[in-house]
Amino acid sequence: MKFSTLLLTSALSIFGKGVSATDSQTPICTPDLGNSIDDGFHARFYKYIYPDYAREMSDEDYITKGYKRDDRFITSKTGITDVNFFHFYNLNPNGPTYGVVNGLNITTSNFTVEYSGWFVPKETGDHVFQIGQTDDGTSIEIYDDNYSLCCGMIVHRTVIQSLQIYDNEYIKKQSIHLEAGVPYPMKIVYFNKDRVAIQDISFVDPSGETHKSFDGFAKYYNDVKCKN
Ligand SMILES: *[C@@H]1O[C@H](CO)[C@@H](O)[C@H](O)[C@H]1NC(C)=O
Ligand SMILES: *[C@@H]1O[C@H](CO)[C@@H](O)[C@H](O)[C@H]1NC(C)=O
Ligand SMILES: *[C@@H]1O[C@H](CO)[C@@H](O)[C@H](O)[C@H]1NC(C)=O
Repeated sequence: MKFSTLLLTSALSIFGKGVSATDSQTPICTPDLGNSIDDGFHARFYKYIYPDYAREMSDEDYITKGYKRDDRFITSKTGITDVNFFHFYNLNPNGPTYGVVNGLNITTSNFTVEYSGWFVPKETGDHVFQIGQTDDGTSIEIYDDNYSLCCGMIVHRTVIQSLQIYDNEYIKKQSIHLEAGVPYPMKIVYFNKDRVAIQDISFVDPSGETHKSFDGFAKYYNDVKCKN
């Protein structure tokens, strides 16, 4: 339910492992993204135990930060450009439903996935990011700059969040002005508590073309370093 937000963040927390600050006290520092670049996002899969996690915290707290706990981490995958799925049929009434998400056999009835990386626009102009159907929740964050990766300073980010179930097709969207060729840190978090698992994310580029996949637009920098 939040759109554009200005916040104070502890920088290193957004991507977790792989980013290291040389001096977290220095107020201004610049990230060096390095030369080790993967195509696509990295996906990190976590458990969702229902109803335990729902009792522990609100859906909004869970999707914003609560999901990320080492003891609930399952596995990760690289090179992901398709973040959408539709697991609606053949639900198992007597236990978890298994299915495949990004090549991983997982309990589609109850799981969490975080896609992270950088969005690299092909054209300069307004990009409209959209969350259509989701069950139980999707959050997209796009950062205006790389500073969030380093200094732990104030950063600007756009947050598009949708917490709902599949038959509520309320669409959340937000337009963001982006520059061609500039890598913008981006994160998508999804969770499903129980049964149906659906996520439908798309973006419209400045030419008006709708993209359901991040193929050609997503990168992951493996070796980010923070320097003064
Ligand atoms: C959910 O998935 C896990 C596997 O991560 C499984 O062990 C658990 O029993 C499942 N069921 C519920 C209701 O959370
Ligand atoms: C996924 O794992 C479950 C539980 O181990 C298994 O029953 C099922 O056959 C597997 N599905 C696929 C597509 O490998
Ligand atoms: C992130 O850092 C890279 C390398 O310094 C730079 O080229 C790029 O413009 C930065 N991205 C943003 C959104 O400022």
